[in-house]
Order: sequence, then structure tokens, then C-alpha cells
Amino acid sequence: VITKVKARQILDSRGIPTVEVDLHTNKGVFRASTPSSDLTGLYEAVELRDGDKGSYLGNSVSKAVKNVNEKISEALVGMDPTLQSQIDQAMIDLDKTEKKGELGVNAILAVSMAACKAGAAQKEVPLYKHIADLSGRNTLTLPVPAFTVISGGKRAGNSLAIQEIMILPIGASRFEEALQMGSETYHHLKAVIVDKYGAQGCNVGEDGGFAPNISSFKEGLDLVKEAISRTGYNERIKIAIDVAATDFCMGTKYDLDYKSPNKSGQNFKSADDMIKLYRELCAEYPIVSIEDPFDKEDWEHTKRFSSLAICQVVGDDLLMSNSQRMKKAIEESTCDALLLKINQIGTVTEAIEVVKLAKDAHWGVVASHRCGETEDSFIADFSVGLSTGQIKAGAPCRGERLAKYNQLLRIEEELGDDAFYAGEEWRESS
Ligand code: PGA
Ligand code: ZN
Repeated sequence: VITKVKARQILDSRGIPTVEVDLHTNKGVFRASTPSSDLTGLYEAVELRDGDKGSYLGNSVSKAVKNVNEKISEALVGMDPTLQSQIDQAMIDLDKTEKKGELGVNAILAVSMAACKAGAAQKEVPLYKHIADLSGRNTLTLPVPAFTVISGGKRAGNSLAIQEIMILPIGASRFEEALQMGSETYHHLKAVIVDKYGAQGCNVGEDGGFAPNISSFKEGLDLVKEAISRTGYNERIKIAIDVAATDFCMGTKYDLDYKSPNKSGQNFKSADDMIKLYRELCAEYPIVSIEDPFDKEDWEHTKRFSSLAICQVVGDDLLMSNSQRMKKAIEESTCDALLLKINQIGTVTEAIEVVKLAKDAHWGVVASHRCGETEDSFIADFSVGLSTGQIKAGAPCRGERLAKYNQLLRIEEELGDDAFYAGEEWRESS
């Protein structure tokens, strides 16, 4: 049984406070921490921050920590850690608000994940197996990683409007090989960038992708294409982009120069121009997935692009991992994949439900990190237990990103002959 729940404030990968929880049972101590990013607060669960400008610029989380140590601990002590849905429901009932803003999603999620780890230990099974059991699944699949190799948008100080260019080693035979392919491509890319832009071009963005001072999609894609060709992996590696178009949508236009100090105003594109651009890019490069190609409220163009069926269309800002928005998108065929950010939801039980919703609609599912990450590798186990088929956890470098990828290596090793790498089945993994 749960004997104690203790939280503390730690720092995430951006150096901003977040909540870490130690959940004690008779089997030991189980630790988890909540990732974070800039929240829009519209449809997603709410983080509780102290707002005291004199402490971490308003970002300290002592109230959330106190909520765990007092209210949540009191409610959960004595409960069986294998009963995930009851634990999660107890916190939802205690919070009473729709978006978990009373206790804070930063408090609730860390406890939910720590309880899940404790539940696995109680059953003496690996975490990914426990998660599979909780969702009623009996298959385990290693996901195809989407490694960020070029960073732009809000994640980097260059002029590139799109947020990320990623590589997907779909043609690997195992996860271990996928990681090697990702790492080798990343290092070849570094050399390609040094040749062209000098060492300065190899500064990295928040998720570890290189951030050379390029401004066009094509410049970035050419660099990646060249790096892939130097590895010799060729068509075994595909490309994905996260446009995060909401960040540069100005009214009805998209400003591809939005970060440039001396904007000419000539690089404004209409949504139809953007569709044309995506079609060209998909024809010229091995792009298999585009995330948030339009503003998060521009469902019409997202749907129009999606209906062309040129590539997977992923809803991140579009969906905010919100089940109501997902149901609407499924009904209207707005996109065909979910970017799953568990801290937008808040509990393991609800995150499992959201994945089921996506899978029932035959959507792709990308288990995702946040820009503010911790050493916690929970989403690695989550992606295997739910056979999401895809995981996006940043570059194949930097500790908080590798925490996830390295955990997938360990899981694959543990599964041995039973390990199955999603590979070509990345979009609809059973
Ligand atoms: P985040 O976004 O940095 O806000 O977590 C990641 C993404 O857009 O995929
Ligand atoms: Zn995104």
C-alpha cells in the first residue's frame, strides 16, 4: 500500500522549477517528475505556479509541492498502487476543477506517474507491461523515434520559422539500430553545417537540434538530406517537420520571416500558398509527417491539406491532447495523428483513454516530450506499453532527451526475442 507521498521542487531542462514526487510503498520509493512548456491554458490542464516575482521570476512551485505533501498524500495513503484509475480519480475528485488548476497538473501528474511505477513494482512487472495491462493491451511495441536534428521557431534563436526538422529511422530493424542511425546522422549533419555555416552554426536549440542561421524550410531540409546521404542509410530514414504554424500566423497570413529583425513583409504566405509549399516539399524530400501545418484554429486548411493524403498530419497545438477537440477532429477528418503530451491531460488513466480514442480512429500516435523536460523516462515505457508506434523526445543528445531513448534501449534488451520495433508500421502500430 501507499504509505507516504512526498514532493519537492526541482528544476527542468530549461532551469525552471517543476515538481518531483517520491511515492513510498512497502515495496520501496518510486520517483516521477512533471515536464513543462509554455501553456496556452485554453483546453489543457493548468500548472500551479506561485507567481511570486521574487522567487524564480514567479515560477516557483511551492504551492503545488504543498498540495502533494498535504492534501494528496492524505487522500492516497493506504491505497493499493496497482489501482491506477482509483488513485487518479481520487486526485480529480480532490481537485474538483475541470482543468486541475486547484491542485495543479504539475502536482497531480507527478503523483500519477509515480503511482504507476509503484503499481508495476507491486505486481513485479516492468513499467511498460503494467501500462499495457492498465489499457487492456497484450502487445508491446518499440516506437520509431522522431529525432529533432534542426531547431527553429520558438525553440531557437535563428531565423527559421518552422520549429523542428526531425528524422525517422523507419527502415531500422530494431530500436537500437534506429538510435545508431539517428546519432550518426546527427553527427554527419554537424559536419555538413560546419562546412557551410562554420562552427557557430552548430549551436543547438532547446531540444538539442542544431540551429544554424537559416531562414527557409528548404535550406534546412537540404542540410538534412545531405547528412542522410553521407550516412548511406538513404531511404531507410524519413523526414518529419513540426511547423508549429500557430506561432507565425498573423491573421489569415503566415509570416515566414517572423523572427527576422529587418522583415521585408514579402514573405507572407496565405494558407493556400502554404498548402502549395507543403506539396512541393513533400515531392522533393522524403517527408512523411507534418505537425501543425496551420494555425491551431485553422481546421479548414488543416483538413484540406490532410485530405490530400500526402503525408501524416499531426495535431499538436491543434488538439492540445484534449479529448473533445480530438473527437471533433476525428469526426471531421481534420488530421490523422495525435501528438500526445501527458501533462496537457494530467493523469496516466486519462492519457491511456486519449490514446485509445486515437487508435480506435486508426490515427497515428506520437508520444511526446515537452521542451521543459526532466530525467524522468516515463514516456518511453508509456509508448511501448500502448504501442504508440512513434515517440518524439528531441535530439539524440542531451541528458533529458536521452533519458527516454536510452530507456527504450533497455526495454528492447529486456524483451529480447519478444521485442518488436514498429518500423514500417509506425503510423498504425498494433
Ligand atoms: P513544447 O512543444 O516545446 O511546447 O513541448 C513541443 C512540440 O511542439 O512538439
Ligand atoms: Zn508541436
